[in-house]
Amino acid sequence: MTSLRFLLVFAILSSLPGRGLQIADFRSQIFPGTNADVQSEIANLNSSAPDPVTQDIPAPHLINGYEPKWWKEAVVYQIYPRSFQDSNGDGIGDLPGITSRLDYLQKLGVNVIWLSPHFDSPNADNGYDIRDYRKVMKEFGTMADFDALLAGIKQRHMRLIIDLVANHTSDEHQWFVESRKSKDNPYRDYYIWRPGKVGKDGKLGPPNNYPSYFFGSAWQYDEPTKEYYLHYFAVKQPDLNWDNPKVRGEIFSIMKFWLDKGVDGFRMDVIPLVSKPPGLPDLTPEQLHDPSNLWANGPHRDEYLQEMNREVLSKYDDMSVGEAIGINLNEETKLVDDRRHELNMIFNFDAVRINRDGKQFIPFTLPALKAIYAEHARVLGKHDWDTVFLANHDNPRLVSTFGNDSPQSRVPSAKLLATLLLTMRGTPFLYQGDELGMTNYPFKAIGEYDDIEARNGYRDEVKTGNVSEAEYLANLSKMSRDNARTPMQWSPTANAGFTTASAKPWLAVNPNYKTINAEQATTDPDSIYNYTRALITLRAKTPAFVYGDYQDLDPQHPRVFAYTRTLGDEKYLVALNLSDEPVAYTLPEKLLSGKLVTGNFGKQEDGASVLHLQGWDSRIYKQ
Ligand code: NOJ
Repeated sequence: MTSLRFLLVFAILSSLPGRGLQIADFRSQIFPGTNADVQSEIANLNSSAPDPVTQDIPAPHLINGYEPKWWKEAVVYQIYPRSFQDSNGDGIGDLPGITSRLDYLQKLGVNVIWLSPHFDSPNADNGYDIRDYRKVMKEFGTMADFDALLAGIKQRHMRLIIDLVANHTSDEHQWFVESRKSKDNPYRDYYIWRPGKVGKDGKLGPPNNYPSYFFGSAWQYDEPTKEYYLHYFAVKQPDLNWDNPKVRGEIFSIMKFWLDKGVDGFRMDVIPLVSKPPGLPDLTPEQLHDPSNLWANGPHRDEYLQEMNREVLSKYDDMSVGEAIGINLNEETKLVDDRRHELNMIFNFDAVRINRDGKQFIPFTLPALKAIYAEHARVLGKHDWDTVFLANHDNPRLVSTFGNDSPQSRVPSAKLLATLLLTMRGTPFLYQGDELGMTNYPFKAIGEYDDIEARNGYRDEVKTGNVSEAEYLANLSKMSRDNARTPMQWSPTANAGFTTASAKPWLAVNPNYKTINAEQATTDPDSIYNYTRALITLRAKTPAFVYGDYQDLDPQHPRVFAYTRTLGDEKYLVALNLSDEPVAYTLPEKLLSGKLVTGNFGKQEDGASVLHLQGWDSRIYKQ
């Protein structure tokens, strides 16, 4: 009788995605065949899975109150295609180049690739100015190359999200070519046109005082119709008029085109900016300092995102991550609360831009960085989801900015940062080359930069005498986007194996490629690459790092970042020394370290109350 009752209870529990069984369910949903390491880790986990009968069963299908989703459990790797791998010797990365490197990515263990724009573009802003959303940029290859890349990704059980740049197009997009022809052209209302305003000096000027993110006015006078068009970014990036339902329809149809091809979702470029402030009045002096918050909170933003969700996103098993320039934490839930049906998650810039004041580089303190993560954990609830990232193609290199790229500290600090990203709350986004500890480029002169933002700034700030050249260049060398865009360093051979030896890469290769490269890193068991790989495997087998609660143990400590991730009775302690100096760190509240899972310098100190952390030491303990 007892055994019959047991069997009955077991059968009922087996049919529920309850706690004791969820490890297998959780992983087969998300990692439908990840690399062999992870698969064997999963097998180990399952063999030691607790008896389901004796487990507390949480509410059906929730894990710690969160609805499990593949994109919550993913580790995303961003590829900037221009700089990843060139396959045809023209000095520009391309899609076949990426396909040839998929084994490298699979081995690293990442399971989603975010591809920066691959669409037809005149490249005023390296693809963030799209001329044709249904065509592949010719430098990157053909649609057949795209299909081969996608097939290669799927074969390896990874997923692909692409970059939807829908706030603006290129001025060479057919819609704009038509729009600028005449005021009664059917495409006129696809963009934002206004007559100029006569200023105090009696001259015709822009309709309002909006500045562009890329310097100068956000309005451009256009001779054929003698009106101005709005461009928040470059002159060649006119903003679309999302208040026109036809524009939204066009964008939704483009999204379906790519989803039907098999892509798994989108990173959405500056998506909160699509709803413009009504009437476009002048900015106040305060708003002028940083207009992003005003621009990101237009009256129809949520309505348009909900429409996008209803019409497109909800119909696919996809992932959506909005680049949420201008959205502060308290506004974040409006976009990501799953009951509102907008986006899955956003990039909030609080952490990655902690070292910025406008376009100036400023120092930051560790308590200030910790406060950001603590606030995110406090404000974002079980219906929201977060991202975690400290670098991308718009920011300088991870190790040069948040770590220390000197020869002694580069490796440990890059490992520490990988630990932070892969154990923190939210879906981690890694940027290409950070797994090798690639560093900022030693830029010296303005001629070495490609980025339109850097060049426009030089024109508007230095040439006008506003800022001295020395000051501008010193600031730029630390924060320029080009730091992250130098070619991927694959090998110690000419041009770092990014392109052929005789080709000229579109942007210079960092001279440190002879020591910092993938060939070295994949063969060295102690490399940043292999450490990152082990951390990704660990995250894949440890639901606590995905769904666990977060607690900062010591918010005010100036050098040590110590936090726990807890899921049910599983608790992990992460202790990071974000400084060059050793610290004898006493764990707060009589806590003991637990059992070392992994550490940067191999020092154990299991069960200790004091951890003797070396500079850039990073450790994970199971409690
Ligand atoms: C954000 C993108 O990340 C950046 O690279 C681009 O320049 C602007 N949006 C404009 O599209």
